[in-house]
Formats: sequence, structure tokens, C-alpha cells
Amino acid sequence: MKGIVLAGGLGSRLRPLTQITNKHLLPVYNKPMVYYPLQMLVDAGITDIMLVTGGNSAGDFLRLIRNGEDFGLSRINYAYQTGEGGIAEALGLARDFVGNDRMVVVLGDNILQYGIKQAVATFAKQLSGAHILLKEVDHPQEYGIAEVEDQHIRRIIEKPKQPSSNLAVIGVYMYCADVFDIIATLTPSRRGELEITDVNNAYLQRGELTYDLVEGWWLDAGENHASLLRANLTVAREQGVEL
Ligand code: G1P
Repeated sequence: MKGIVLAGGLGSRLRPLTQITNKHLLPVYNKPMVYYPLQMLVDAGITDIMLVTGGNSAGDFLRLIRNGEDFGLSRINYAYQTGEGGIAEALGLARDFVGNDRMVVVLGDNILQYGIKQAVATFAKQLSGAHILLKEVDHPQEYGIAEVEDQHIRRIIEKPKQPSSNLAVIGVYMYCADVFDIIATLTPSRRGELEITDVNNAYLQRGELTYDLVEGWWLDAGENHASLLRANLTVAREQGVEL
């Protein structure tokens, strides 16, 4: 199983904090944000990892993470995304790295209280297709939202104006190698990006998309200023810090 951390993007919703750096390098309590998804992969037993980033701060990731020493690794793979083509485009850059293997993709600002070990074990037993994680949220307009009926996902809508569910597709996606063939068929959305929601809907149409509900808290730390503050407080409290 390969691990991929996606840490590109402009972070425009976090300006001016992201004016001169990448949002995934901002602090979440006592570590840079990107440390948390990396640690979640390693804790789930995934040690063959690629980090995809871009923009002016790309070199800072190399200086920060180096060869993965802080995570007990001896090597990390890096890819550079030119421009802002979206999550699915960033994932496409990992094609040669993944080969015919399976992969767990984590967005560089997602943090789960109990990590992803259990979900990865579930996916490892799945014969083909994809596995995603859902979590109830307060502002469904800001996420990819899954409509679930009789415990089956009916469809996923990216940032619906009038959401019919509050189950967000969080930024942890598990795929077989055929995801790269799906990505190759995508066309850019209205916001000019290759959408990961289109990838997941393609698996849904094939009847190959399974899901788990997330237990414990889930943080989308880089969504906006409030979510960054919430992430700092939540992670500090989790570590027993009195605030
Ligand atoms: C992205 C995905 C969205 C998902 C969210 C989770 O949104 O497009 O489907 O629910 O991550 O963090 P974005 O951060 O690009 O707005």
C-alpha cells in the first residue's frame, strides 16, 4: 500500500497567513500541519509515501521533512504540481510512484482523532474499487456531500448550495491503481479543477465505492481561519494541554 499526501494549493481562504507560505506548513499546536497526515499514514503501517506540493514554498517541504526522519522513515518521495489543477490532478502525478499498487490519499490538512488504521485495514480486504470516509458536518455547503440511502451512497455532490445531507466526504481516499485511468478521463469543473468528487462518482457508477463513518473528531484544519484555530485548540487539548 502506497501513501500520498497532497499539500499543494494557494490556501487563498487563509490569507494573509498564506501570502508567503504554504498553508500545510502553518502550525497546528506544536507541529506543522502536514506532520499530522504524514503521521497518520505511518501509524497505519504505510511507509512508502509521496508528498505532492507546488508553488513558491515547495522547497520548504524538503527542508522541513527531509528524508522523513521525524517519522522514522529513511526516504520520502516528492512530486511538484504546476498550477492549481485540483486534487485529482495532483493525485495523477503519483501514477509512476504507485504503479499497480493500492494507495491511501490524504489531504495535507486533514487530521483524525483516531487516525486511519482501521479504515486502511478494511480497504486492504476489499477486492477492487475505492473506499472513502464520511463524517457529519455543520456546514455541508463547504464539502463534497454524500447522499446515503439504505446504507448505500446514492451520489456525491461537490459543495451543494442546498445540501440534502450533512455527511461530508473527508479528505482521506483509498483507491486501486485504476484510479489513474479514471483521472485521465476527467474534464475540469467550473472552478477549473479536476475534482476528486468526480473520481468517487465514477467508482460509484461502477458499484465499487464503499465507505466508513468516522468515529471521533475530524479536522479540516486548512479550510478557513476558524477551522485552523479549532484544529490548534483540539490538538492541544488532545495532548492534555490546559487552555
Ligand atoms: C476538498 C474536496 C471536498 C472534501 C474536502 C475535505 O474540498 O473537494 O470534496 O469534502 O476537500 O477536506 P476543498 O478543500 O478543495 O474545498
